[in-house]
Amino acid sequence: MDLEEAIRNRRSHRLFKNAPVEREKIDAILDAAHWAPSPANTQPWEFIVIRRRDARRRLFEFSEEAKRSGRIEVRGFSYVRPLPETVAEPSSEESERLALQHYSLSFLKNVPVIIAIVGLPLTSVRSASYQETRDSYKYSCGAVIQNILLTAESLGLGSLWFTLFDQKPVRQFLRIGNSKHLVAMVLVGYAAISPPSPGRLPLKEKITWID
Ligand SMILES: Cc1cc2nc3c(=O)[nH]c(=O)nc-3n(C[C@H](O)[C@H](O)[C@H](O)COP(=O)(O)O)c2cc1C
Repeated sequence: MDLEEAIRNRRSHRLFKNAPVEREKIDAILDAAHWAPSPANTQPWEFIVIRRRDARRRLFEFSEEAKRSGRIEVRGFSYVRPLPETVAEPSSEESERLALQHYSLSFLKNVPVIIAIVGLPLTSVRSASYQETRDSYKYSCGAVIQNILLTAESLGLGSLWFTLFDQKPVRQFLRIGNSKHLVAMVLVGYAAISPPSPGRLPLKEKITWID
């Protein structure tokens, strides 16, 4: 698969087949992740690969609990299932609360592989380009995650960049120390459906040319 095809065809998947992912594919994904760029090649990341069923179930339970208690927000996410009429107004707070109720997190139980992306803030280097100099590890982890998503796509796998979780219990469960930051979890598995493309805003609205 060429790069352009992988970039365009990649979708966020929230429904996975009940099939394991081959170890070689997971290794290839982690290798691609590790080749991401970082400031001064600091490589401010670590990975936790979660495959055990009971561990995935715990992650699901933590997220469900956070969803019920309103500790996570839903802004900016797209949904597999159309939302009922009552949540048609996307900008109001009430509609966001309702939308969250309709957002199923079952994929956390069903997906065969979850890769936790752990950022290492202490290895961030100072850079004049970043207002918050300590933030540079986050940008590196973003590059890591995009490598994972595109490699998964090229290997015939579906993936999801997942952030809608409650940091505290998940960090405790994964034994992530205070000096580290759980940036995201990336779900990887064989996709059960081909989700429609949510599309993008017109590109020309996003570009300023200085000719
Ligand atoms: C920083 C970031 C966080 C995201 N977190 C979640 C999430 O927690 N749950 C989810 O279902 N999708 C999440 N997504 C996926 C987006 O909803 C998705 O990329 C977007 O709707 C565009 O759809 P596409 O990926 O299929 O092109 C996240 C994406 C990014 C970049």
